[in-house]
Amino acid sequence: MIVVDKVTKVYDNGAVAINNISLQIKKGEFVFIVGSSGSGKSTFMKMLLKEVEPTQGKIIVDGTNINALERREIPYFRRKMGVVFQDFRLLPRKTVYENVAFALEVTEAPPKAIRRNVPAILAMVGLTHKAKVYPNELSGGEQQRVALARAIINKPPILLADEPTGNLDPETAWEIMELLKEINARGTTVVIATHAKDIVDEMKKRVITIQKGVISSDKEGGYDFED
Ligand SMILES: Nc1ncnc2c1ncn2[C@@H]1O[C@H](COP(=O)(O)OP(=O)(O)O)[C@@H](O)[C@H]1O
Ligand SMILES: [Mg+2]
Repeated sequence: MIVVDKVTKVYDNGAVAINNISLQIKKGEFVFIVGSSGSGKSTFMKMLLKEVEPTQGKIIVDGTNINALERREIPYFRRKMGVVFQDFRLLPRKTVYENVAFALEVTEAPPKAIRRNVPAILAMVGLTHKAKVYPNELSGGEQQRVALARAIINKPPILLADEPTGNLDPETAWEIMELLKEINARGTTVVIATHAKDIVDEMKKRVITIQKGVISSDKEGGYDFED
């Protein structure tokens, strides 16, 4: 599903963010990418999204060699991936319902499908009662639930989350992680960059550790470095 083959990213200022990384993530996997701040996690995630171009190497997502994509193909490629960030990135002037509906509207989904799917997904993330509320009236955990709903409303095969619990207290972070687990159980491949050590240890999933741009370990189960 995701093949990363000898990928290096050197930024224009000379920073080597990712140094010759190769890995594969299978369909339906749940994978943590961990490593200290500055180790290259976000760069890795952005390369999967084609927001950042690798300096060298090849990335294949769902059978598509993304290096070779033309500019006009990129928006369609990105529909394969739901994305969630640490800072939620909701549209402040749209309600919860409208934020989620918007993700369907841009794909030109029929209004009937929108009216059916948005309430269903809001129910799944436990926010039916907040549908008419604006993001600034929500807690951090609720905002991240909206962001998750928006990320999965188009049923993407892959969900990428970069530090999705970074702004949340531990209990709320767990709730978000439970939702990510449920999304994975419904068939979505989930890739999460994080340094939430307790969560990673507890989840007992595949953990890929990146240190200074290099994979230092790739195993089932736990966190494998000192911050
Ligand atoms: N746009 C950029 N321009 C130059 N250097 C960058 C840029 N983004 C990240 N870096 C550098 O690349 C390295 C990895 O950063 P990043 O991928 O953000 O790591 P992480 O997400 O693990 O904290 C760091 O040294 C960082 O300073
Ligand atoms: Mg980062």
